[in-house]
Amino acid sequence: MKKADDDPPLCELKKATNGIMYIDPAGPERPETIRCEGKTYSRFMDFIYISKSAEELSEDEVLAVNKLREQFIQKMPHWEINISVRAKFLRVIDSLVINSVLEIGPDSNPLFPDSGHKFKEYFTADLDLESVDLLSSKGIKSFHFNLNAPLPLPDSSIDLVVALFVFQFPISIQQIKEIRRVVKPDGAVMANVYRRDQRSRDELRAQFLEVGLHCKVIPDGSHLCRDHEYWCLSVNEDSNLLRVVIEGMTNNDREK
Ligand SMILES: C[S@@+](CC[C@H](N)C(=O)[O-])C[C@H]1O[C@@H](n2cnc3c(N)ncnc32)[C@H](O)[C@@H]1O
Repeated sequence: MKKADDDPPLCELKKATNGIMYIDPAGPERPETIRCEGKTYSRFMDFIYISKSAEELSEDEVLAVNKLREQFIQKMPHWEINISVRAKFLRVIDSLVINSVLEIGPDSNPLFPDSGHKFKEYFTADLDLESVDLLSSKGIKSFHFNLNAPLPLPDSSIDLVVALFVFQFPISIQQIKEIRRVVKPDGAVMANVYRRDQRSRDELRAQFLEVGLHCKVIPDGSHLCRDHEYWCLSVNEDSNLLRVVIEGMTNNDREK
């Protein structure tokens, strides 16, 4: 591919809101970078282009990216990857004996969209108020969650916190403290992380450790997306639940 800095854009960029750009999702080309109006934009989620790294986006930019994603989601190759990682998460969760699950960042696409799950309590929490309203209207207990909106849940009340395709975005230390506060000491947090560079991953892991959440990183042997890995965290490194989550995340690729 030509070097974007030196060359005119290969595709026409369209403007979404808050400085987020995109190209026609059905178009033939998806260059890694596009130069437009003096800025270099990098491809993110197939057809969206951002001028900084995903973990540096502001909350409004995160919302704009996810609105676009939602609009075109079923047409994106990325969607197949989401289905695959989602299936892996669901298999692991299915193997756990737990009562309460908190899903961070479900958007309109929660892991458990109907009441047919086995948990006593299933909550979701997202910084996108529209998603919160949508899921609430479907009977899912859904909370607004961001830097200034803590989780309305008691301390040590949640067995498993899950975040699927969320930690590529910024997570504030206030939110990390909230996750630590609500998860049971023997509970676990499972998430996938991609795109972040090594320094950014190290910093995020250090923040989790600072609040007492130990992190075991499992590289994705299938390399489903860029620098993709699974993170399993717990306050108690010897927690039985953590052990089962780690085993599931490590082993069940071959079931695909
Ligand atoms: C890429 S979507 C993933 C949606 C869904 N989990 C899936 O895999 O299809 C990311 C979601 O996480 C939410 N999100 C991103 N950063 C967040 C944060 N720091 N706190 C809460 N929600 C966040 C976004 O609003 C969006 O709904």
